[in-house]
Amino acid sequence: MKKSALQKARAAYQPKLPVVLTGAVKAVEGKPTHSVADQDDIKALFPNTYGLPEIQFEKDPNPAKGSTPINVGVILSGGQAPGGHNVISGLFDGIKKINRDSRLYGFLMGPGGFVDHKYVELTSEIIDQFRNTGGFDIIGSGRTKLETKAQFDKGLEILKQLDIKALIIIGGDDSNTNACVLAEYYKQINAGVQVIGCPKTIDGDLKNEVIETSFGFDTATKVYSEVIGNIQRDCNSAKKYWHFIKLMGRSASHIALECALQCQPNVCIISEEVEAKKQTLNDIVNSIADIVAARAANGNNYGTVLIPEGLIEFIPAMKVLIAELNDLLAANAAEFATIEPNNRLSWVADRLSAENAGIFTSLPDGVANQLCLDRDPHGNVQVSLIETEKLLGHMVARRLDQMKSEGRYVGKFAAQFHFFGYEGRCADPSNFDADYCYALGFNASCLIRAGVTGYMSSVRNLTKPSVQWIAGGIPITMMMNMERRHGAMKPVIQKALVTLDGAAFTKFAEQRDSWAINTEFVYPGPIQYFGPAEVCDQCSMTLKYEHAAK
Ligand code: FBP
Repeated sequence: MKKSALQKARAAYQPKLPVVLTGAVKAVEGKPTHSVADQDDIKALFPNTYGLPEIQFEKDPNPAKGSTPINVGVILSGGQAPGGHNVISGLFDGIKKINRDSRLYGFLMGPGGFVDHKYVELTSEIIDQFRNTGGFDIIGSGRTKLETKAQFDKGLEILKQLDIKALIIIGGDDSNTNACVLAEYYKQINAGVQVIGCPKTIDGDLKNEVIETSFGFDTATKVYSEVIGNIQRDCNSAKKYWHFIKLMGRSASHIALECALQCQPNVCIISEEVEAKKQTLNDIVNSIADIVAARAANGNNYGTVLIPEGLIEFIPAMKVLIAELNDLLAANAAEFATIEPNNRLSWVADRLSAENAGIFTSLPDGVANQLCLDRDPHGNVQVSLIETEKLLGHMVARRLDQMKSEGRYVGKFAAQFHFFGYEGRCADPSNFDADYCYALGFNASCLIRAGVTGYMSSVRNLTKPSVQWIAGGIPITMMMNMERRHGAMKPVIQKALVTLDGAAFTKFAEQRDSWAINTEFVYPGPIQYFGPAEVCDQCSMTLKYEHAAK
């Protein structure tokens, strides 16, 4: 692999471990825990892993001498997030510290590699190529759902064959839910395999009282904020375009909110607020058009609008339409596949209820077609494929025409469209993510040594310098509740959406009216890896505000 100058320099970066993990540790147990909701159901479903205590590591003044080698397996699951390679290198260094003959096996292309017995032994030669780099290409990732007994048993065969005693699953809320189910099953059958999860996702929706943030969010939002800042500077120079920028993040609007806090755009829509206020598509369009008109009245025919990618599913009427579409397309998949592409929209409209057919036919054809595309393996509409930014841009243009004819708007409106998602998922991790991920991986090796299963690696106190971070483990059952999935109630980790009384949203809401009318753009610039701490070592603003409010 030919390396860039930055890659070469970055390879020498030594992530800073929390000071507690730099020597021998002992696991100090807290009180028994309970799930966030539905305690009786979760307890019944996880009799072997429910109620375990939180664990915090402390320095061990009298460490036991010598440990036997341990073989460990690792899986990267779901969408890429900056820092995954550092979780693996921290894990590798941790198990080598336990015993230099310990071995690490990586399962290829996600959970599918575990089930199909596709793996590679991760040696120091391989690991050293990937330290501090972005991407998941060291072993690849995938979205196979690990949920059936047959998959668990098949996976156990390869674990036995390689004498693997612990499996680390690096994933988001669904993957960690599955890790917990696997841990419970292996405990129940006395398989002798520990299962530990690590919190990954750029979306930032795997967090709670005990997991402060998922890794990758920090870097991805810094990358998006850099390019949003660049667009804002272009916009403020030419003063002739409105930029509609859709941002990844699946359901939750954490990414859009963080980018808004960093860049101070004219508009940022927060899906959770749209749902809470029961706003319609027209309400959203009208509110953007009013801001465009107000700026135009001051001679400013330009601006920026941030749009979370999951917005469409939070507009109550669209949510109902999507639910009916999901059922219709699932029940008639074979017939739908045979319909001529040009006739698909009318085929769908004819079969929808009158109200939903009305909404469906009012959408631009492009968006209506995107709503009918294949669902992902979890049955979700693939929101990253729906061009909400174009939908809103075109509807705002229509509304402005109407306002102009009524004499309520005098100005020029020209829109540019952007979608930022994949650009940020494999960026070289920021110093924050490089340190956080390395600590999560190293900490996972301490959890293995502590002999626990069904835990998530937890590193906290993240607004402080990394040496002061607190390390330990959280029972995954503690984060669970029951939710309806595919028509049945299932135990799942509760997804963290933006809370409208939370510190980050409050800070945004206090300032947005002024950002809308005045031009108060901030230009964060690119991630810096070398230089003063106030430039290189800052965590996300969301994390800062959330901590300050505690
Ligand atoms: P995870 O939840 O697996 O971390 O994935 C995050 C994400 O980047 C979402 O923001 C986005 O909607 C989705 O993955 C895109 O999925 P894909 O990579 O399959 O196109």
